[in-house]
Amino acid sequence: MANKKVLVTGGCGYIGSHTIVDLIDNGFEVVSVDNNVNSYASVMDGIKAITGKDVPNYTLDLCDFKATKRIFEEHSDIGGVIHFAALKSVNESVTRPLDYFRNNLNSLLNILECCKIYGVRGFIFSSSCSVYGNAEELPVTESTPFEEAESPYARTKQMGEQIVKDFAANNSAVSSVMLRYFNPAGAHESALIGEQARKTAWNLVPVIMETAIGKRDGMVVFGDDYDTRDGSCIRDYIHVMDISNAHTKAIEYLFEERNSSNYEIFNLGIGEGVTVFEAIHAFEKTSGRKLNYKIAPRREGDVVAIYANNDKARQLLRWQPNRNIEDIMRTAWNWEEKRNSIPSE
Ligand code: NAD
Ligand code: WQD
Repeated sequence: MANKKVLVTGGCGYIGSHTIVDLIDNGFEVVSVDNNVNSYASVMDGIKAITGKDVPNYTLDLCDFKATKRIFEEHSDIGGVIHFAALKSVNESVTRPLDYFRNNLNSLLNILECCKIYGVRGFIFSSSCSVYGNAEELPVTESTPFEEAESPYARTKQMGEQIVKDFAANNSAVSSVMLRYFNPAGAHESALIGEQARKTAWNLVPVIMETAIGKRDGMVVFGDDYDTRDGSCIRDYIHVMDISNAHTKAIEYLFEERNSSNYEIFNLGIGEGVTVFEAIHAFEKTSGRKLNYKIAPRREGDVVAIYANNDKARQLLRWQPNRNIEDIMRTAWNWEEKRNSIPSE
């Protein structure tokens, strides 16, 4: 069994912060690093309120190799790395492609180099269903071929996976797992942590929350004329606590050496598709509020429908998602109401 100390990059971010909590709940020791380009270090207060633990958190840019190495020198017993840190806005990546390639790829190269130098056993990479592009077969399995990426952001994930694959082929001591998330949403049940980005949110659930709380006058549904059961697009929304728990399971899988190869891929979705209208109705039902929305034309680059086959993660990681779209809306709304009653940083 490798050392139970795990470095979480992007630990102040949305999924990273929830994963830190899940790791601590399961007996792991955690070190975090984040440059807060899209987050706030104060999330560590929420993590402490939930877990009772002070997590060492380095504020630095992972594109800075020397600074990154320092973390491993100060924590020579890091057994696993979960690499969340990345820029993730699809829209922004279209206007700033070089920044996305530079940040997402350089940080990955540096962290892999450190895994090699400092004898890390297990490496987990945050990938995305966006690697599949406009997939022809549904649900998508891990062997569904990649289609053309819809954005530079998605391309950084396709390239990131390829980089880790080439690294794994030549570094048998480090075992890697690619986790392809579908649409993570919701917040921690405690409402002490949740999604709190610096950059403007464009994803459906944050947009619903901002509309309902009054930060936006209204919102739009992009297209009601798709060939789906109600005309709107279909996605696989997965609760952030379920996604986080899969990381703990994946680290255990690697530490217990249950992996049959040192490069493996898993889809993380609930395995069911939900339409945009169904998501809106789930919000209205759980919050008791009416949402002000209009129908707008289709959004460029949207795929009609995508959802996961998650059999592999269920079987090999011994993971299962336990929450549905109503849990997502209930917890996201609790968090939205709570954080708007507290003065922000
Ligand atoms: P997030 O923006 O909340 O978290 C990412 C964190 O990484 C942020 O706190 C940011 O400040 C930090 N970061 C970025 N570049 C850095 C750098 N060079 N050095 C140090 N820190 C840096 O995003 P998230 O939603 O928590 O996503 C986590 C990961 O999961 C990302 O890799 C993202 O691409 C991937 N992902 C997210 C989704 C989603 O819908 N949220 C879906 C699929 C994949
Ligand atoms: C979901 C549905 C929209 C906003 C993105 C990334 C993907 C991954 C997950 C990181 C679509 C509709 C949305 C709104 C709407 N992230 N919508 N009105 O596009 O599936 O995926 O996040 O890896 O890479 O591309 O998620 O939440 O933006 O959209 O009608 O104001 O909600 O058209 O059908 P998407 P999303």
